[in-house]
Amino acid sequence: MKTLILGASGATGKLVVLQLLERNLSARIVVRETAVIPAKITGNKNIEIVKGNIDDLTTDQIQKLMLDCDSIVCCLGHTISFKGIFGKPYNLVANAVKKITDAASSFDTVKKFVLMSTTAYTNKKQGEKNTFGEKLIFSLLKIVLPPHKDNIFAGDHLVYGLEAAGRIEWVVVRPDSLFDEENQSEYEICELKTRSPVFNPGRTSRINVSHFMAELLVNDILWQKWKYKTPVIYNKDCRER
Ligand SMILES: NC(=O)c1ccc[n+]([C@@H]2O[C@H](COP(=O)([O-])OP(=O)(O)OC[C@H]3O[C@@H](n4cnc5c(N)ncnc54)[C@H](OP(=O)(O)O)[C@@H]3O)[C@@H](O)[C@H]2O)c1
Repeated sequence: MKTLILGASGATGKLVVLQLLERNLSARIVVRETAVIPAKITGNKNIEIVKGNIDDLTTDQIQKLMLDCDSIVCCLGHTISFKGIFGKPYNLVANAVKKITDAASSFDTVKKFVLMSTTAYTNKKQGEKNTFGEKLIFSLLKIVLPPHKDNIFAGDHLVYGLEAAGRIEWVVVRPDSLFDEENQSEYEICELKTRSPVFNPGRTSRINVSHFMAELLVNDILWQKWKYKTPVIYNKDCRER
């Protein structure tokens, strides 16, 4: 099994690559020229590194990258800097998602697609509702924080556009506040948010996100359970907070 990974140089993307390697799977990763990749990844024969900026690639180029891959994982996100948050490309994630789904329509076989999203994405189609306070904050964020808008566009493209499209099956994984911890720990997966991401956020370690994403790709029962859904992932140790 081979996976195309976008955002593989990022804090979570790197961990997804390592999780796949632990499972003896191979991956093609697309990273910018400037990206810093750990030696464990660059030196591994199961990893193919393609240098380039995903935002500059056409749908045809992305289709070629997807050709011999069974699955795609997107862990792209805007760099936490003034330029990363307020500069172009404003729709980094949504553009990549659109190109992936467009490219997938030309294949004969169905591909799995896992998108890293956020609990700031509300799945209204699944019955999630924001409180008055959350609506206020999210509306403000949509105006002042381009990456928030990008995450909404990306999620909506899958949730509202593609449920029955046929050539791609997707899962939108929604972590709460991300943090780093060395080892995987217990986590829970919920169909809907159980905490307010604004007023009572939970925590999700990046390693747990990467573990869940890798398990989705290899465990078909898990995949069938979450296919076309937007599971929220929380570390179990944040339950009491
Ligand atoms: N922060 C939180 O608490 C939180 C919570 C839930 C969800 N999220 C979401 O989780 C996602 C990933 O988080 P993370 O911390 O793993 O992200 P990260 O470490 O910032 O990684 C972002 C990835 O996107 C790439 N990227 C950024 N700007 C790019 C551009 N202009 N062109 C091409 N590639 C670009 C980066 O490449 P380079 O290495 O080349 O920069 C990197 O591979 C984000 O979408 C974020 O919205 C965040």
